[in-house]
Amino acid sequence: MGSVDIPREQWATRIGFIFAAVGSAVGLGNIWRFPFQVGQEGGAAFLLVYLLFIILIGFPAMLVEFVVGRYTERNPVGALKEVGSGAWAYIGWIFVATGFVILSYYSVVAGWTIRYTLLGLQDGYLADAAEAEGQFVELASGLDAILFHALFMAVVITIVAYGIQRGIELAVKVMVPAIIVITVGMAAYAFTLDGASEAYAYYLSPEFSVIAAEWTSILPAAAGQAFFTLSLGMGVMITYASYLGEDRNLAEDGAIVIGFDTAIAFITGLIVFPILFTAGVDPADPGAGAIFVSLAAAFGDLTLGWLIGTIFFGTVAIAALSSAISLMEVVVSYIIDERGVDRSRAAIGIGSGMFLLGIPSAYDLVLLDLFDLFADQILLVLGGLLLTVLVGWLSSDLAVRELERGIGDLGSIGTAWIWAVRVPVVLALLAALYLGVLEYIEFLQEGFLPWLDEQ
Ligand code: PHE
Repeated sequence: MGSVDIPREQWATRIGFIFAAVGSAVGLGNIWRFPFQVGQEGGAAFLLVYLLFIILIGFPAMLVEFVVGRYTERNPVGALKEVGSGAWAYIGWIFVATGFVILSYYSVVAGWTIRYTLLGLQDGYLADAAEAEGQFVELASGLDAILFHALFMAVVITIVAYGIQRGIELAVKVMVPAIIVITVGMAAYAFTLDGASEAYAYYLSPEFSVIAAEWTSILPAAAGQAFFTLSLGMGVMITYASYLGEDRNLAEDGAIVIGFDTAIAFITGLIVFPILFTAGVDPADPGAGAIFVSLAAAFGDLTLGWLIGTIFFGTVAIAALSSAISLMEVVVSYIIDERGVDRSRAAIGIGSGMFLLGIPSAYDLVLLDLFDLFADQILLVLGGLLLTVLVGWLSSDLAVRELERGIGDLGSIGTAWIWAVRVPVVLALLAALYLGVLEYIEFLQEGFLPWLDEQ
């Protein structure tokens, strides 16, 4: 069919692009995944390594995606055909496939956050941990989960169908400031709780002996989290930067996006840990069910907990929405650019497909893990790895020239950036991929196959 001739869409304002990128970055990764990773990986020690990796790995990798997007002004598939030759041209396909799979179950989890927002307004949260867990198991899978998954996906489709300026840009200009104001307000509230000082000590004073003893698990976990939370490795930042159309200082934009994302993750810790400590929950315990079980039970315990909980889960739902639209936009931009389909039809078609693919994840938690671990720890890391090898080792001149557009001559800073991409970023992703594959095999043997036998 070929490309269409209508001019490509662009962001209306600089702040629109920045908010869209912040909205994508700030999501379940910050509010749900980050605190439980801190809890599992040793508290403040993990936080320290994570912050280091955001700067050392996340920042250079984000600039890679920005330059590829702005240089090509295409969707990830088209962009990679332009930047890479031969087999490299297919990296874009990995991105589109990853986006498709991730949003299918991300929408299921986002559906839970809507369900839990309503729960506070209906009967409140259950204070007893075992009961809270039972409630989560009931709500997380089955008809309820499928309904809220459908509702969430319908909202995502609607925003994306309205396009870059009237859909995504307008939505993030409301959502991102709301997320910032509410999280700061909740952290101030959490400061007044009894468990606050104990929580701060745990969260903020690193024990270096923990890093020394556990670095084999802390380092890959921190690298993976840095990539996931910044929405890297699946073409989101390529897609968003492709709508820039003007020469701006991409390094500055990237630093702002990273600053906001990191601040929100950090502040979430200042909310979650005081609440957990006040309710007497060991932060190492909760695991992936953290916010829906332990935190929900803590809300059940607190005075006015139903209100605090409703605000908290509502904010998580908004954060998930602003990330989900970026995931859908990756796939939709491909359909529009390369297939000439109009935007609304593309959004409805893709969204329906993602909804169907998400049904197994809403049916059983084991299937959600099956999709999540594969997309998150293998596909996403693989796409990121191939892209950084391509840009860092094979197309570095082009990349530096593109970064200099809007900044001016970078001199040795450009070289330093390329070497950061070539070595630390590539090594971190290689290690993460290796561990991700091992973990997936373990999950298949110990989680999925036994589950399949039972069916
Ligand atoms: N960055 C998002 C979060 O932290 C997740 C995400 C990953 C979104 C990849 C888009 C692409 O929740």
